[in-house]
Amino acid sequence: MLTLEGVGKRYPTGDRALSDIDLALPKGQVMALIGPSGAGKSTLIRCVNRLVEPSQGHIRLDGDELTTLSGAGLRRARRSMGMIFQEYALVDRLTVMENVLSGRLGYVGFWRSFFRRYPEQDVREAFRLLERVGLDHALDKRADALSGGQRQRVGIARALLQSPRLLLVDEPTASLDPKTSRQIMRLIRELCAERGLAAIINIHDVALARQFADRIVGLNAGRIVFDGAPSELTSDILTTIYGEEEWDTRVGPEEPAEERSAPPRAFDVALSGAVR
Ligand SMILES: Nc1ncnc2c1ncn2[C@@H]1O[C@H](COP(=O)(O)OP(=O)(O)O)[C@@H](O)[C@H]1O
Ligand SMILES: [Mg+2]
Repeated sequence: MLTLEGVGKRYPTGDRALSDIDLALPKGQVMALIGPSGAGKSTLIRCVNRLVEPSQGHIRLDGDELTTLSGAGLRRARRSMGMIFQEYALVDRLTVMENVLSGRLGYVGFWRSFFRRYPEQDVREAFRLLERVGLDHALDKRADALSGGQRQRVGIARALLQSPRLLLVDEPTASLDPKTSRQIMRLIRELCAERGLAAIINIHDVALARQFADRIVGLNAGRIVFDGAPSELTSDILTTIYGEEEWDTRVGPEEPAEERSAPPRAFDVALSGAVR
């Protein structure tokens, strides 16, 4: 169980990205976090794994306070949270298998990973996961030879190889076409059910959130303005979340979001737990 209590974030620039966030995410629950660009969705999930330092409040995972962790404790906590990114954050020149195995970097130690010598058990599990996500035929392909949907499948397998207790997913479908987006959301959904994993999925696309999440939380200007079941998401509530004009455009295919925060890179993956 993940709990956030009174969480706030003000960036050094003065931007207040989150205010008074209270949230409890039970084991196994798939939660979609929706809201307009700049609402604070990325900041929220980044506070949970401390890629961003919250300014106020408490964040606990199975009772452990995350906000005060440092050093080995923080690395251990990050390993228990798998991140999946919009831009996949794969290493292009590495193979599918190598990219997935990098999910074990947090466990195998620097020198072993430097020489890419992973324990056989990790390789077997990576293979099983690649089979599960439908990429066992492409183990030796370079990441840059894959389609967007395949790249996201690699990102999903890599996150799962960490054996996380929680998935943090930031706009997983924003670079994909509508059909591939549904396939990827369905896959994440099924994997959470199979493994009893909870997930926070930041997503612009309201229709996808409705179809695949157990619960929807709406953010506007850093505050939770809705928290309920997909069936409770009326057009009035969507107007509260997105404002008068915006929400109906979100039901259709994704528009490019204007993001002020930097897009995730392989470096973020390293920070998010794949670093020893
Ligand atoms: N690194 C940063 N430095 C300063 N302000 C930031 C940074 N990242 C995000 N913000 C600001 O915080 C707010 C929330 O951004 P973000 O969490 O990226 O929202 P979302 O993911 O919902 O689009 C925005 O006002 C954004 O401009
Ligand atoms: Mg974002």
